Amino acid sequence: MGEYVIEARDLRKVYPGGIEAVKGVSFRVRRGEIYGFLGPNGAGKTTTLGMLTTVIKPTSGTAIVAGYDVTRNPVEVRARIGVVFQDPTIDRDLTAWQNMYIHGLIHGVPRSVLEKRIPELLRMVGLEKFMHTRLRYYSGGMIRRLEIARALINTPEVLFLDEPTIGLDPQARAKVWEVIRSLKKQGVTVFLTTHYMDEADKLCDRIAIIDHGRIIAEGTPEELKSMVGGDIIYIRVVGDGASFARSLAERGWKTRTLSDGLIAISVRDAPRALPEIMMEAARRRLQIVEVRYVRPSLDDVFLHLTGRSLRDSETEGWKEIARMMVRRRMR
Ligand SMILES: Nc1ncnc2c1ncn2[C@@H]1O[C@H](COP(=O)(O)OP(=O)(O)OP(=O)(O)O)[C@@H](O)[C@H]1O
Ligand SMILES: [Mg+2]
Repeated sequence: MGEYVIEARDLRKVYPGGIEAVKGVSFRVRRGEIYGFLGPNGAGKTTTLGMLTTVIKPTSGTAIVAGYDVTRNPVEVRARIGVVFQDPTIDRDLTAWQNMYIHGLIHGVPRSVLEKRIPELLRMVGLEKFMHTRLRYYSGGMIRRLEIARALINTPEVLFLDEPTIGLDPQARAKVWEVIRSLKKQGVTVFLTTHYMDEADKLCDRIAIIDHGRIIAEGTPEELKSMVGGDIIYIRVVGDGASFARSLAERGWKTRTLSDGLIAISVRDAPRALPEIMMEAARRRLQIVEVRYVRPSLDDVFLHLTGRSLRDSETEGWKEIARMMVRRRMR
């Protein structure tokens, strides 16, 4: 078993009519990680996912998924992956159990295995109580979780999720995230696409930011955010704040004292700088009454790289998340 479950090299897709949707992307996904493709509408996320899942034929370039070449051995690849497409592909007249059973049979899973595995998977996504409910009575979030359970029927090495939480309300999104995290714990590699920066930030181990068919940055959420230039630490002390601020400035940090006495320090990496700042305060026998720091968001990263805001291309859904987060913070 190699370290990488997905290895894409210079993948390109030109659609009939000449649209170059993916302009040569290369990346590798490690076994057991959650890897995210983050980008605005039309960036080429679905096209890339389509090529990795053998649904779309690359114009050029190669991709090895679960040890097999997507163009040369598509059947081998398909046997080892699970896919949840952007638009639900379920039969609403069937129950969850029936949907999964049929899907399992198509994938060649033996009936005896299905009888055992379907309830297990439905339990994992929190739908065991609704196993025999027809999907027309399911909410969008329940459908999404069912689709994830269904995509796991053949015990795949890699699960592909195209916009797993698009259009879901915050609670439903949180439940889908929970399911994805539990998959990671079980060792399943997850490749997902999203245009929600908070989703990429909170859920993914590593992210490729994709724009106009190209990967413009790749790294852990923290690495990407540190590209923007740094963090801001806010500290409030009792005592001679002015000379404390000066001593910090002498160390090369840009320091501002705000009107309410709060000292704002621009640093490259707050967790690294904080101990030194705290020690300096202790050395001066200053009592710290407040200390916190803020980090740039992935939206700042996108803005930094493209001059455009990812937020601009997002739907109402994101605003709802923002409202939810504010509410949560207020609690
Ligand atoms: N079948 C197709 N034929 C022609 N052009 C296509 C086809 N599918 C996608 N495109 C175009 O390719 C580009 C990339 O589309 P793609 O669906 O991969 O983007 P995406 O990042 O998934 O976007 P979204 O966030 O809207 O899902 C877009 O300009 C799109 O219009
Ligand atoms: Mg898409």
